[in-house]
Amino acid sequence: MQRTQVAIIGAGPAGLLLGALLHKAGIANTILELHSGEQVLARVRAGILERGSAELLDEAGVGRRMRAEGLIHEGIQLSFGGQRQRIDLQGLTGQSVLVYGQNELCRDLMDDRKAAGLTTHYEARHVSLHGLGEPRVVVRYQHLGQARELACDYIAGCDGFHGVSRAGLPASAYHSYERGYPFGWLGVLADTRPPADELVYAQHERGFALCSMRSRTRVRCYIQCSLSDRLESWSDARFWRELKSRLDPVTAAALEPAPSLEKSIAPLRSYVTEPLRFGRLFLAGDAGHLVPPTGAKGLNLAASDVRYLARALTEHYRDRSDAGLARYSEQALRRVWRAERFSWSLTRLLHNFPDHNGFDQRIQQADLDYLMSSRAAQTVLAENYVGLPLTE
Ligand code: APR
Ligand code: PHB
Repeated sequence: MQRTQVAIIGAGPAGLLLGALLHKAGIANTILELHSGEQVLARVRAGILERGSAELLDEAGVGRRMRAEGLIHEGIQLSFGGQRQRIDLQGLTGQSVLVYGQNELCRDLMDDRKAAGLTTHYEARHVSLHGLGEPRVVVRYQHLGQARELACDYIAGCDGFHGVSRAGLPASAYHSYERGYPFGWLGVLADTRPPADELVYAQHERGFALCSMRSRTRVRCYIQCSLSDRLESWSDARFWRELKSRLDPVTAAALEPAPSLEKSIAPLRSYVTEPLRFGRLFLAGDAGHLVPPTGAKGLNLAASDVRYLARALTEHYRDRSDAGLARYSEQALRRVWRAERFSWSLTRLLHNFPDHNGFDQRIQQADLDYLMSSRAAQTVLAENYVGLPLTE
């Protein structure tokens, strides 16, 4: 039987970053990942890093390429009513965000892990957790057709929303809170110049749209779509046409369509599991909660969970104190709920809700109007967008 101190399930950003932080603290860890490394890196996900997330990557020793290639954004643009208006993140909060693709970040973490000689079992199938309430936990799985066992002190469930860590628990062990949305996002990745230097979030009667970027030559754009929409019915030409129709004229004119490198539809969902601890299992990242992508908080919440968890495990092994582990769930959830609140409110502010009536639409317009006329309201948006403080 293999043995480690912390078994990490999932090699997404949460699992990889936790592994790096634990290694820095001298804590042995093994990662079990369902897919291959290439499959993990092929997933296109948001990449907007709050300052705290970027600093955590520095702390883990993997921030070099992010600092060299990441784009510093000091503001975001809101497009509505035929105009584009700026929210000055830097001026309102003294902070900016860093645009750096999530798959690039995972690649850096994977390379670093390999260079340090740490164990990651990719294509680990049928993972199951045993003895969560006992001093020694065992993870069973299959690798290359062989049954394997990994004994450990703790398990970090970083296996995303569809993972096994939460799914293996009895339904009575936790409570989940959920809100679905009656639309999805159709996203396109393409090599063309971003239509503005900053991200453009658009509210329009035809639906929400977003022009994001991965670099100065690659865009990631989204439009709100119906949940019943099929990718086959969205040719590139139709996508760009629809996107332009939802943007203000200045942004629309600057947008140069290009062939899609990737195209996908994702539903939007708010979801929280409580608690995030079950005996020796701790959930972190999407395994414990989801936010709609509107405020780009998913990755940042994964980072803040992992920061709390790494500190708690370090306290356990180094100082022989379990205070941090006892506090983990409550501490992480407090920040999770604030990000849930923000992601939900930004989604509500910018999307078209099919069940909304004329009154709701007027309220949405009044919300935007108020936002652009009030420095206080802009500060609320900006301080949430750049990231709320992390507690010690
Ligand atoms: N066994 C092992 N690994 C698994 C299993 C399983 N049964 N099920 C899922 N996984 C792996 C997935 O293949 C994936 O690589 O767990 C990983 C989870 O990664 P993510 O879904 O990326 O979740 P997380 O690391 O929490 O990242 C936070 O923030 O921007 C959001 O959703 C976005 O990925 C992002 C997330
Ligand atoms: C993205 O770049 O994919 C992205 C950026 C900002 C968001 C959501 C997604 O709010």
